[in-house]
Amino acid sequence: MLDIAFSDASLPTSGTLAILAAPGAPAGAFAALDVAVGGALTRAAKAAKFRFDAAKTCVVLAPGAGYDRVVLVGLGKVDALDATVAEQAGVAAARGLSDAGTAGVVVADTVAPDLAAHVALGIVLGSYRFDSYRTQPRKGDAGPLTDVTVACADPVHASQAWQPLSAVARGVCLCRDLVSEPANMLRPPEFEQRILALRDLGVEVEVLDRDAMHKLGFGALLGVAQGSDAPPRTVIMRWNGGAQDDAPVAFVGKGVTFDSGGISIKPAAGMDEMKTDMAGAAAVVGTMAALAGRKAKVNAVGVVGLVENMLSGNAQRPGDVVRTAAGQTVEVLNTDAEGRLVLADVLWYTQDRFKPRFMVNLATLTGAIVVSLGIERAGLFSNSDALAGHLSATGEKTGEKLWRMPMDAAYLELLRSDIADLKNIGGRPGGSITAAKFLECFVNDVPWAHLDIAGTAFTSKPTSHAPKGATGFGVRLLDRMVGTYYEG
Ligand code: BES
Ligand code: MN
Ligand code: ZN
Repeated sequence: MLDIAFSDASLPTSGTLAILAAPGAPAGAFAALDVAVGGALTRAAKAAKFRFDAAKTCVVLAPGAGYDRVVLVGLGKVDALDATVAEQAGVAAARGLSDAGTAGVVVADTVAPDLAAHVALGIVLGSYRFDSYRTQPRKGDAGPLTDVTVACADPVHASQAWQPLSAVARGVCLCRDLVSEPANMLRPPEFEQRILALRDLGVEVEVLDRDAMHKLGFGALLGVAQGSDAPPRTVIMRWNGGAQDDAPVAFVGKGVTFDSGGISIKPAAGMDEMKTDMAGAAAVVGTMAALAGRKAKVNAVGVVGLVENMLSGNAQRPGDVVRTAAGQTVEVLNTDAEGRLVLADVLWYTQDRFKPRFMVNLATLTGAIVVSLGIERAGLFSNSDALAGHLSATGEKTGEKLWRMPMDAAYLELLRSDIADLKNIGGRPGGSITAAKFLECFVNDVPWAHLDIAGTAFTSKPTSHAPKGATGFGVRLLDRMVGTYYEG
């Protein structure tokens, strides 16, 4: 991850700068710089009809003095300037700098020190790249940003505010790295290895292998896993930052490292995207890394079910019946509705063993949620108005937005099987809701929420906080929700 330095607002006299500025008369370093280059910056902004709207940019080449390039970044109206706008400005600044080279200074002397730290978060998130498998740079690519300084009024204060946020940035980048990995490189055992590295942050990690899961009666998860040569895992992470006898908060993730659909095989077009079907698990890992990295005053458990959904002579068949850890039986009418089978066992196990204050699961669960909400919001399904309220409010604050979906009892009727307690599909109408109702059968009475992130985990075009590719959706949201409502 890019290392950010903070300095005071005395600026270099050459190179590349990004200047954050609000509409109106130039202030601070921007004003001084504009004078130094004979008014070239304000003239360029005027000529380009640049209005300093939030996160918009105007690139000024060779404005004078020794500068190669100055990127003007809008902050928008001062009263609307909050952490999210600061982050978006940081993202825009990072994009402006990386078009030119690998280094630069971001001038943020007119924003409060706390917000300057959020600018830094934006710079890190906006400059994220996944280059593990490039042996050669792309044509015209200047390479990753390696050297960025945020020039601000109070660098000591800003870098203090950056400490916890840098842990969150690391969590988001870890999540994106995991989601970006191709499925041949990240099967359940490799995923487990990546999670074991969290021990360096003080996270306790425990692994359940096939035998252990068999003893616990994880028939639903193991049924999904049986078509793959890769052995499944359930991995449990614990961060104990709260009081010893405080019940933990719990996060649960779907970690299907590749979803071929199984015998109910998916169409060929776009199947490659199913390497991202572990984004829920990756978000849980990223959240645990963030909480541990900033030493959050909370007890948290993260549990991820890791399997590969494949076809083979031993793969699960449509019509098979499996027995879940909860004791309920499920008729598997479609092997492509595998996420809910994995989560059924892992959710039951998590509430049974940890008796958490609440349980939030994340999963790329249904294509139907993409039809409902597009890529703008994730689906929120919950049995608790309080928990749903905390999640929704935090979503609006962080920009990782949610939309609450209904959970009427009538939807559960669509999951009645002719020969078992439940079937794993409820038909096309309301497909995301029946999936959520299925999960709800395995949460007992614990306050629980399910985030269907099938539309938000991965993006085919850059967003306000992420380049094209894995977004890291959920990490900033859950970290902030814990910080706001459940810490201390
Ligand atoms: N992993 C998919 C859901 C998905 C679809 C994620 C598109 C990301 C993008 C899930 O396992 C799945 O296949 N769901 C089926 C359920 C159906 C068989 C009831 C679906 O959505 O079609
Ligand atoms: Mn599937
Ligand atoms: Zn899936």
